[in-house]
Parts: sequence; structure tokens; C-alpha cells
Amino acid sequence: MLKGKTALITGSTSGIGLGIARALAGQGCNIMLNGLGDPEKIEATRHGLQREFSITARYHDADMTRPDDITSLVETTAASFGGIDILVNNAGIQHTAPVEEFPPERWAAIIAVNLSSSFYAIHHTVPHMRRRGWGRIINIASVHGLVASANKAAYVSAKHGLVGLTKVVALETAGSGITSNAICPGWTRTELIEPQIVARAQALGVDIEAGGRSMLAEKQPSQQFVSIEQLGQLVLFLCSSGSDQITGTAIPIDGGWTAQ
Ligand SMILES: NC(=O)c1ccc[n+]([C@@H]2O[C@H](COP(=O)([O-])OP(=O)(O)OC[C@H]3O[C@@H](n4cnc5c(N)ncnc54)[C@H](O)[C@@H]3O)[C@@H](O)[C@H]2O)c1
Repeated sequence: MLKGKTALITGSTSGIGLGIARALAGQGCNIMLNGLGDPEKIEATRHGLQREFSITARYHDADMTRPDDITSLVETTAASFGGIDILVNNAGIQHTAPVEEFPPERWAAIIAVNLSSSFYAIHHTVPHMRRRGWGRIINIASVHGLVASANKAAYVSAKHGLVGLTKVVALETAGSGITSNAICPGWTRTELIEPQIVARAQALGVDIEAGGRSMLAEKQPSQQFVSIEQLGQLVLFLCSSGSDQITGTAIPIDGGWTAQ
């Protein structure tokens, strides 16, 4: 179904993005990886994807805070694979602090990576998708694109903005073969939330596992983390023909967090 298609996944050197890259590669998609990290480890990841799934995987080191880098990321992907079929805007960062103590430079960085980078990537990718008459834009938002939590001014603002951007792009591409959707995960155990788990464990004077359980108990009724594999499966569904009429949505995958 996806064999030979090209997927560009931002922030795919770890966590959810890498899991999505693996899910798409498992269906025969060629992959453009992007993200920060140790070059040797990234090269091993790229090589591993090629070997395990018999696809072509490339890597681009675009810094998603830099619009010119994003132009290069998109155009290099299109030129080297002959087009772009699937764009997953996944790169993201976090910082937690009360609004009156929130460092302005962290605000600017979070808005840049978690929101503006998706605009730039979509802006440059849509013309390539229109030429093919097919495309999937999948924005990894968050439950924080739908509801708020304290101490996350920048993250919640960026993710709400990303859900809005998803809807606008859906309206502008409706009927063209392109869909635009957001996925809104609850707690998923990755490096992004590890500092929050550590802080919770320290505040309670418990071990890391108990810290994680406490965070789940507060927000996620299933009391289970979302898995990276489950997020990969949802992306595959959004890339299937069964989802041709699903566009402009923000789909929670959150163990009931936003049902409360
Ligand atoms: N983990 C969760 O509980 C959770 C919940 C909801 C949404 N999300 C979202 O999922 C996405 C992936 O996060 P994750 O949990 O896998 O965390 P992660 O830290 O493992 O992954 C983040 C990725 O973004 C990349 N990145 C960060 N800054 C970048 C920059 N300037 N340029 C290029 N790449 C950059 C990192 O290199 C990494 O590949 C994020 O958008 C995050 O907001 C995560």
C-alpha cells in the first residue's frame, strides 16, 4: 500500500518520531530522517532502517528553529526521492515553569520548534503533494492541543496553534487527495517527559517508576502510557485509503485524558 512512497518525519532521531519512521518503513516507505543527536548514532539508525526494512533512508540535519534549514529539508527530500507523499511534523521540545517565571527564550524556542516549523514544512511540501494529487500531512500535537495543564504556557499555546493550523490546511486541501490531521497523544514514555517524571519522583520522594505512576494517576485514566508502536499504527491508519475522508481532525490517543 505504501511501498515506494516517501515519508519525511521531522524529529525522527528518537522517541515517537523514530517509532513512526519504523512503522512507515515497515510498510515499504522510503524515509527522510531529521533531528538532533550524535551523528554516529543517527547514521546507525539510518543504516539499521535500510537493512531491516529494505527501503532507502536518508538523513537531513535541519534545525527546525531555522526556516532556511526547513526549506532545504523539504526540497532535498523531494529532489532525492522524486517527491513527498507523507509529511509527519513531529519535532518538539518542552519546558515547564509558571508563566511569570517562564524564560522568554524558551517561549520563543518552543513556538519555533513545536508550531512554526510545521507551518514552514507544510508551506513547502503542499505544492509537491498537489503535483501528485495525493498526500498525508500528520501533525503530532498533544492532549495539550485540546486542553491545558499548569506550567506549560508555551507548549500548550504551540500545540493549540498546531491543531488550528491542521484545520486550516485541511480546508485548503479538501478534495485534492491531500488530508491534514493532528494526533494528540497523552503521556508517552520518551526522553521528552523524562525530566517531568524525575521531578515528580523527587517531589514525592519515590523512585522513577512510582513518579511515572503518579503522573498517570493525575491525568491519564487508563493509568497506562501510550506506546510508540500504538502511535505508529495510528499514523499507518491515517495513511490508508480508509482515511481518505478523515481530514481536519485532532485525534486523541490518551487513555481517556481528554474525556474527563
Ligand atoms: N512523550 C509524550 O508524552 C508526548 C505527548 C504528546 C505529544 N508529544 C509530542 O511528540 C513529539 C515527539 O516527542 P517525543 O516524546 O518523541 O520526544 P523526543 O525528545 O524523544 O523527540 C523529539 C525529537 O525532536 C527533535 N528535535 C528537537 N528540537 C529540534 C530542532 N531544533 N531541530 C530538529 N529536531 C529537533 C529531537 O532531536 C527528537 O528527534 C513532540 O512534538 C511532542 O510534543 C509527546
